[in-house]
Amino acid sequence: MKNILAISSLTVSLEDKVILKNINLKVHPGEIHAIMGPNGSGKSSLAMTIAGNPKYFVKRNSRIKLNTMDIAKLSPDKRAKLGLFMAFQQPLAIFGVSVLNLLRLASTTTNSPLSSFTEFLSSLRQKASALQIPEEMLKRSLNDGFSGGEKKKMEALQAQVLKPKLAIFDEIDTGLDIDALKLVAKTIKELAKKETGIIIITHYQRLLKYIKPDYVHILINGQIVKSGPSSLAQQVEKSGYEKYLI
Ligand SMILES: Nc1ncnc2c1ncn2[C@@H]1O[C@H](COP(=O)(O)OP(=O)(O)OP(=O)(O)O)[C@@H](O)[C@H]1O
Ligand SMILES: [Mg+2]
Repeated sequence: MKNILAISSLTVSLEDKVILKNINLKVHPGEIHAIMGPNGSGKSSLAMTIAGNPKYFVKRNSRIKLNTMDIAKLSPDKRAKLGLFMAFQQPLAIFGVSVLNLLRLASTTTNSPLSSFTEFLSSLRQKASALQIPEEMLKRSLNDGFSGGEKKKMEALQAQVLKPKLAIFDEIDTGLDIDALKLVAKTIKELAKKETGIIIITHYQRLLKYIKPDYVHILINGQIVKSGPSSLAQQVEKSGYEKYLI
């Protein structure tokens, strides 16, 4: 099967400090990968680099391929159009842009064929309701005054509407109550069933109890020091990261 994401020899620096070193990672359609690691180990930096945040300087000879396309030099909007979605650890508020308008506009550029507005609205309502997002929230400015958990549910809704080829969820579980956590987990599993490649960044076994990843990767000091099956997450929870320190 073809990779949806293929990262090879990825080295990244931020303000002259090397924060990711020689990362290799392959994700196939429908696979769920979890990335775990201590605070400051580079997990969000990896997500930001894949998404194309220009703050992160990608060293020569690093490769980031989405499908067969090398996206390392593309702007974030071009990557999004190719089917990349990222749920931020700290989602930003965009005043004046309603959730509804944002999602309609975004889906006109990424989804094909385009549904009618009525179809779009009814599908959006149904998806929002499944995540227990009140309908009036869809008319509010994105994340403006949303609670921590509401922001995270909104990220999950966006992923579901946009049907990306690859979705990265950076600590989607923080701030979610137990019922919301289950709903978000369900949404992510549904995406994987529809062949979206998934990367989940998390600190906790709590989320992985509901989403069993196919692979777990441990990122320490900007390097993937170990990859393994889902049981690796349980081992880490018991023993901590000390034995993986290099
Ligand atoms: N603007 C910056 N200048 C210098 N160093 C930075 C800057 N932004 C981030 N860093 C550093 O890059 C490293 C990686 O940060 P990153 O946010 O990727 O960690 P993380 O693994 O996501 O941590 P957490 O689990 O706390 O979210 C950290 O040491 C951080 O302090
Ligand atoms: Mg982070």
